[in-house]
Amino acid sequence: MRELEGKFKEVFSREPEIELRSPGRVNLIGEHTDYNDGFVFPAAINLEIRGLAAVRDDSGVNVYSMDFNEFKSFDINNDLKKEGSWTDYIKGVIVELKKSGEISKGADIVYSSNLPVGSGLSSSAAFEVINAMLFSKINGIDLSLREIALLSQRAENKFVGVNCGIMDQFSIALGKKDSALFLDTKTLSYEIVPLNMKGYKIIISNTNKPRELSSSAYNERREECETAVSILKKNNYDISSLRDLNSSQLKEIASILPEINFKRVKHVVEENERVLKSVEYLKSGDLESFGKLLNESHKSLKDYYEVSCGELDILVEEAMNIEGTLGSRMTGAGFGGCTISIVREDRIKDFIEKVGENYFKRTDLKADFYVSEAVNGAEIFFK
Ligand code: GLA
Repeated sequence: MRELEGKFKEVFSREPEIELRSPGRVNLIGEHTDYNDGFVFPAAINLEIRGLAAVRDDSGVNVYSMDFNEFKSFDINNDLKKEGSWTDYIKGVIVELKKSGEISKGADIVYSSNLPVGSGLSSSAAFEVINAMLFSKINGIDLSLREIALLSQRAENKFVGVNCGIMDQFSIALGKKDSALFLDTKTLSYEIVPLNMKGYKIIISNTNKPRELSSSAYNERREECETAVSILKKNNYDISSLRDLNSSQLKEIASILPEINFKRVKHVVEENERVLKSVEYLKSGDLESFGKLLNESHKSLKDYYEVSCGELDILVEEAMNIEGTLGSRMTGAGFGGCTISIVREDRIKDFIEKVGENYFKRTDLKADFYVSEAVNGAEIFFK
């Protein structure tokens, strides 16, 4: 914070008035289910974007990123266009905010982050959510946390062009300390589930593999699911999304759908059921059974949804070779990014050393590891 304050004064020659923090997220289980009206089980984590801001009297937005070492500015009143920069996420939320009310006040902001960018831990959603909170607040637009999440999702869908679901923005806006959030993405009703980890920790392992083409492959998966729904509807299935199917129907569905669509459907339907079971296991403290579901989820994402990659598979395999690991899977959209593993506390050091060493031997890439804690969702406070 002190460094951030020094930078703020240096860049803007004034005192900051507002503090910002916005966490990343991991998804424990329920992958690629959110845009199918399904269930997800994410948690906000202790890797965060921090910021300091001060309101301006005019409509200028002046922003400095300590991570990119870059200063940018634009005017709220201009016709804002996507430019392929980190500022697109700010512009995207401002464009959406303009639709919900009068927005005329800009801000001077400095951001700094220990949340790795492009690693599947939702740095973009974290950035959208905190800017939606800031610009709505300073312009007197009263939005609930749910509305902040939905507005941020629209910014990502419409301005940035990634057709994501609601999980990331929702968990970043509404996450709770030491808990995961069991969310029904169809109704947006949710339950805060305490993470009773009984001597285990959630370790995030970052493949550090660049996630190329991930947004186009993501949108493609979504279309494959939508196609499956429309074929099934034509075959007299009374459904509005894949959420409305259950695993006992998969056998008959296999004969109706093209193979690729069937594989996607199988993953989504079974993954939804795994989420429901996981919530129960965590509530009853049955971490072993929960761990097994993580492994099943990974296998399904690899074989049926086909969004894993060699590096993620290697991290999972090496993680499961460490005694005291209960389960491991990719988390987030896939095609690179991170895995989560449930690791016994006394084995964490060993885990990081061995998995890191073997991963490097097999991929030539250096993995990063984070012992994650669940934290509260994004916040802004006036100093
Ligand atoms: C990304 C998206 C989410 C979700 C996950 C996959 O993180 O932003 O909405 O679809 O991928 O579960």
